[in-house]
Amino acid sequence: MTALMKYAILTLLGLLLMAVTYTDLHAQNRASTIDEKVDSLMQQLSLTDKIGEMTQLSIDMLSVGEPYNLEEPHRLDEDKLRKVLLDLRVGSILNVGGHAYSREHWHEIIGRIQEIATKQKPTGIPVLYGIDTIHGANYTLGSTLFPQQIGIAATWDTAHAYEGARIGAYETRASWIPWTFAPVLDIGRDYRWPRFWETFGEDVLLTKKMGNAMVRGFQGDDVSDPHHVAATMKHFLGYSLTITGKDRTQAWIPERQLREYVLPPFKAAVDAGALTVMINSGELNGIPVHVNKKILTGLLRDELGFEGIAVTDWADIEYLYTRHMVAENYKEAIKMAINAGIDMAMVPVDLEFPILLKELVEAGEVPMKRIDESVRRILWVKFKLGLFEKPYHTQEGLYDKFGSPAFAEASYQAAAESITLLKNEESMLPLSGKPKVLVTGPAAHTMTWLNGGWSRTWQGDDPQYLDREGKQTILEAVREQLGFGQVKFVPGTTMNELQEIEKAVSAASDVDLVIACLGEAPYTEKPGDLNDLHLPEAQRTLVKRLADTGKPIVLVLVEGRPRVINDIEPLADAILMAYLPGNEGGRAITDILFGKVNPSGKLPFTYPRYVNDLVTYDHNYTDRVDPDFGTDAFNPQWEFGHGLSYTRFDYSDLKVKPAAFGPGKALSVSVTVTNSGSRAGMEVVQVYVSDLVASVTPPVKRLRAFEKVDLEPGESRKMQFTLYPEELSFVGLDMGWVTEPGDFVIQVDTLSQKVTFRK
Ligand code: BGC
Repeated sequence: MTALMKYAILTLLGLLLMAVTYTDLHAQNRASTIDEKVDSLMQQLSLTDKIGEMTQLSIDMLSVGEPYNLEEPHRLDEDKLRKVLLDLRVGSILNVGGHAYSREHWHEIIGRIQEIATKQKPTGIPVLYGIDTIHGANYTLGSTLFPQQIGIAATWDTAHAYEGARIGAYETRASWIPWTFAPVLDIGRDYRWPRFWETFGEDVLLTKKMGNAMVRGFQGDDVSDPHHVAATMKHFLGYSLTITGKDRTQAWIPERQLREYVLPPFKAAVDAGALTVMINSGELNGIPVHVNKKILTGLLRDELGFEGIAVTDWADIEYLYTRHMVAENYKEAIKMAINAGIDMAMVPVDLEFPILLKELVEAGEVPMKRIDESVRRILWVKFKLGLFEKPYHTQEGLYDKFGSPAFAEASYQAAAESITLLKNEESMLPLSGKPKVLVTGPAAHTMTWLNGGWSRTWQGDDPQYLDREGKQTILEAVREQLGFGQVKFVPGTTMNELQEIEKAVSAASDVDLVIACLGEAPYTEKPGDLNDLHLPEAQRTLVKRLADTGKPIVLVLVEGRPRVINDIEPLADAILMAYLPGNEGGRAITDILFGKVNPSGKLPFTYPRYVNDLVTYDHNYTDRVDPDFGTDAFNPQWEFGHGLSYTRFDYSDLKVKPAAFGPGKALSVSVTVTNSGSRAGMEVVQVYVSDLVASVTPPVKRLRAFEKVDLEPGESRKMQFTLYPEELSFVGLDMGWVTEPGDFVIQVDTLSQKVTFRK
């Protein structure tokens, strides 16, 4: 190395060090000034101001009309605004009055709210407006709608989670809203649950990684910049694992399972810096979570170290005495929830909360310390978001990319990479040439089904607010591909009822194949509760009748949870799982059907074969097929991680080194994957580990690492993974994470190798 080179390297290192130190100092400065600002503001606040900050009302309470029944078109009510913002000093507002608004209307709403809050309210504290940006800024007309979380999980590529959240944040902030109630970090291990599709599926690692990426996408490096929003971790804790499978019912989760499967995604999101958390509306182990101090304070604050805002879910303090029966009256419910650790109460249409809480504080039943703690957190988040400096951003051109083709393309890419080819007999797909097709089924010609719940309306079932320009249903995209004359269309059924089935059957007689688009009409929360996981009988009958014609059948499933189809699966030549692919879904599905896109999605859950066998991939040995007794509990339709491609991938050279490892020592796992087919494609390399013997019955295997890779035909890639002992750990007898000495089997595809861990 020449002296000049050395000099150049040293200078570069010096500059780098300076830059790092400067950024650190800068960040520290900011943080300490925020703390100082919070301190000084706290000095100036009255009890009424503080309790106002802890109150969150729905926009219904600021609008012309009755709550839940606002006048159209939506208008703010000046008297209500003054009452809520100036008399009660309410610090947070949420939601829409029934349906999405234009960006211009959001600007009017937020502009007016912030004007009153910052200019007329003596404290000048800006309002923190929150909205459910669930798969894009779904409550702003014309925004980009992405695949729902379950589809994002099926891409197995965290870049899509990050990008979707980044764009969702951009378009939400473009609507002047700085806070989203997403992501959902509840683990999706019960397929019956009506919010299953809002999860990232059944695996902890996949959920952790996707959730972490989404939080980073929402919040960016600096959440005060005009393109980012505060994220919410939902719903702390145990919401998705109810024993009934129904929304907002009781969950009983032993501590070991809670720590092993439920808590880690929240921990990963806290580590990613998530600023807020929303509490589970249900009961966990017999106690409504909204009053459970062990969870709200012990676990969330003391253990996870979370410093942001804990907001209740919808009216959940009221429900403590009207549904859960743990409080005699509203006042007692408020006392219990606030003392347990709630910072902000989503009391959507109730003005009594601040009055009652004030009385409780004055009577010494809720300590002032508890109030101060919550208010500090709320102000801290408001400062972090930069709301005091700029409650919203008005610079010209700042949001030029809102609803742009580039954003739609990101949504399309996510959809195209999520859609999963479950079955492809005799390479039925991709379709070639210009076949004559019958497109049928209730999912064939609808944008609402492609998008699911939280799409312009809460239930997502009102097509009038969904964009049509440039967006295609499956039918429209197939027609564009083949030409109008090649495509017949008869729906055949609605979601639950046969409709002109004979017409569909006779239409099938002179086509080359049938594309049957089946699934679920949009839903979320309670309205999505289910009594039977089978795909509705009408839709299955349609397939059976069509199969009688002898025509080849391609099934496209547009569904938020795996509806059981064991009787029609054998009748289909090819099956595509589309999940809820969003506004670009029709195009993405069609591009896969016709081979423009090579499918690369993999199931982020186990697709069950029977309604009584809802068993996840990481079950125990006792849950497996028992040849003696025929208790075939684990006999899924398709396994977690399954997904076919139009090319073939071969695995070779699995090497795990060293053969014996110890604490602090990493395992190096390498494997070569080759695209042995004739077209480019993407493959998800999945590394599973089995702990052979453990003090707590070990699952048959756990996903411990994965990576998606893009390979040209004939191309090979050596994939490299590093696994530390902690990554092979489980929650042991004393409820702590432990890696026990013994043998482990590392498995990639059909290759496996045994290694030993020694203490
Ligand atoms: C849902 C939450 C949502 C909130 C606000 C509740 O009913 O459970 O997930 O964020 O409403 O809309």
